[in-house]
Amino acid sequence: MTLPIHVLNGPNLNMLGLREPEIYGADTLADIEARLQAKAGAVGRSVVLRQTNHEGELVEHVQAARTEAAGVIINPAAYTHTSVAVYDALKMLTIPFIELHLSNPHAREAFRHHSYVSPIATGIIAGFGPKGYEVALDAMLGLIAADR
Ligand code: DQA
Repeated sequence: MTLPIHVLNGPNLNMLGLREPEIYGADTLADIEARLQAKAGAVGRSVVLRQTNHEGELVEHVQAARTEAAGVIINPAAYTHTSVAVYDALKMLTIPFIELHLSNPHAREAFRHHSYVSPIATGIIAGFGPKGYEVALDAMLGLIAADR
């Protein structure tokens, strides 16, 4: 069984490329997805990339990953700092998950310094811009069970 890696994205990340490019870079989410598919495909994996602007939908994407994914890379965006619901859903995962941010939230406003997600993440990648998604995929490929 070779399950995909789910790459889940929270609010406003559909605007990548347009949104504050000095912070988030010039790539769109579609650009990032294409690079991830190529990288995963080269080792016989695939990626399912999802984005939502809705908290409950992000919860449902995390719940689906419990049985449908080999591992999860999640950029919860603003819900990182606010959502107990996303935290509760992630807590149910028995597969590895990586918390990812394009920017380094610790170098930004104080309200971004707290993450509900960090204490339960397998690992955290932040501050590398769009390239961070590929860094996270590399890390995830090393984490996931070969039989999953
Ligand atoms: C973000 C950082 C969050 O603080 C912010 O709300 C986002 C994006 C990042 O990728 O740098 O929407 O998760």
